[in-house]
Amino acid sequence: MDKSKFSAILLHWHQHENTRVMPWKGIKDPYKIWLSEVILQQTRVDQGWKYYESFIEKYPDILHLANAEDKEVFKLWEGLGYYNRCKNLLHTARFIAENNNGKFPADYDEILALKGVGPYTAAAIASFAFRLPYAVVDGNVFRVLARVFGNSTPVDATEGKALFTSLAQELLDKKNPGLYNQAIMDFGATVCKPALPLCSNCVLQKQCTAFNTGTVNHLPVKEKV
Ligand code: ADE
Repeated sequence: MDKSKFSAILLHWHQHENTRVMPWKGIKDPYKIWLSEVILQQTRVDQGWKYYESFIEKYPDILHLANAEDKEVFKLWEGLGYYNRCKNLLHTARFIAENNNGKFPADYDEILALKGVGPYTAAAIASFAFRLPYAVVDGNVFRVLARVFGNSTPVDATEGKALFTSLAQELLDKKNPGLYNQAIMDFGATVCKPALPLCSNCVLQKQCTAFNTGTVNHLPVKEKV
């Protein structure tokens, strides 16, 4: 597929056909985005949804969270597992409260330096809240790109990770990084799914190398089974 058309088609799909509803979608508040992304690091959307809403209700901003009792916050996290996420959440809220007057950093490197924030979460916060041009890259993105561009480089090897990461950054719509990132996340989750992808009415069908060569179910390639 022609790289220059990819993001425009994806954005068009996002704005006209994407029906996925989630409570954090379109939100610009970095605190809420950060909270949702930390929850979604190891939790499915349908499970994380309620937890996100409970947290926002109880702690509507970062200072409320920073001032909360550990016990109370861990209680609210109960059921989500991976408690390190909750520990880091509290640590980072207090760090921002103490060192930045409760103001969330608006710089990618500063966001990435926060405890519990990796490149994916940093790109999500930077693009959704601050319109900074950082592409999210995860298994969903690897899958979409491997299929659409018909690339069989293993996505779980160093070379493949570097290749798809750089392709993702190249394809990012630099004028609409937040919209683009949400679009590719939703597209990977609802259309270009790992199993039974919805190719028959996919907006990228005509241009999709995997579809045109009958290799959708063979991509992405993984080195380790
Ligand atoms: N997974 C991680 N972040 C997400 C988001 N913002 N929307 C949907 N799924 C996600």
